[in-house]
Amino acid sequence: MTQFQSLIWIMIILTLLNIQLSSACGKAEYRTGDKCCPMCSPGNRVHKHCTEFTSTSCVHCTDSTFLDEPNGLTACIPCTNNCDPGFGLMVKKPCTPSSDTVCETLEGFYCLDPTKDGCRAAQRHSSCKPGQYISHTGTTSTDTVCSDCTGDAYSNGSFTSCQTYTQCDTLKLQQIKTGTHWSDSECGPQTSLSMAIIYAVVGVGVVVLAVIAAVAIRRKRKGPISERTFPETQSPTEVSVTEGT
Ligand SMILES: *[C@@H]1O[C@H](CO)[C@@H](O)[C@H](O)[C@H]1NC(C)=O
Repeated sequence: MTQFQSLIWIMIILTLLNIQLSSACGKAEYRTGDKCCPMCSPGNRVHKHCTEFTSTSCVHCTDSTFLDEPNGLTACIPCTNNCDPGFGLMVKKPCTPSSDTVCETLEGFYCLDPTKDGCRAAQRHSSCKPGQYISHTGTTSTDTVCSDCTGDAYSNGSFTSCQTYTQCDTLKLQQIKTGTHWSDSECGPQTSLSMAIIYAVVGVGVVVLAVIAAVAIRRKRKGPISERTFPETQSPTEVSVTEGT
């Protein structure tokens, strides 16, 4: 019992000692084994840990690797190599030994995964559907906002406001297609109306001429007929008279 208790105590003491030891390194130091060594500055990594007699030996990060904080690491971190235009990204700041590559969003894209001074992933601005207008143009951090057209107005999806329909009558034209929320009304020359007027005028003219002609013909026929009937009715008697004598 006492043996077991003392064992537990030893374990507790060892644990406390360990915590004390690991937290004993200074802010600019790192722990390696049972020693505290000075950290390497950003852009450098540990080449050789410090000894009782020598300080930490540091070397530069090379070959597209970096370390952006004071550290006790023996290898640098490979630079991010994916400012991929396919993902809407381009290089904003190339990699240096002390800083990773910084990507930024391409024109027409917005950032999905922003970093302190750049972006890790971007997406193309969405486009508005026909019948909608762009109520908020997309930025590098926000997507396009679309709104529906209402009333007598339309947008094909690429307008920043809905356009009112063309008023054909104010253009002295005839509407040949009514507008929709995604397309304008269509106007055409007032062919059918002017043709209708021409037809009406011509038709009325023809009728009037026909009536005048008919009346004239009837008058002409009536005139000679009545003139002729008298001599005709008389002529037989005259003829008979002359024939009789
Ligand atoms: C919308 O109309 C504009 C101007 O008429 C045109 O430039 C554009 O290509 C059209 N967009 C679509 C999506 O049809």
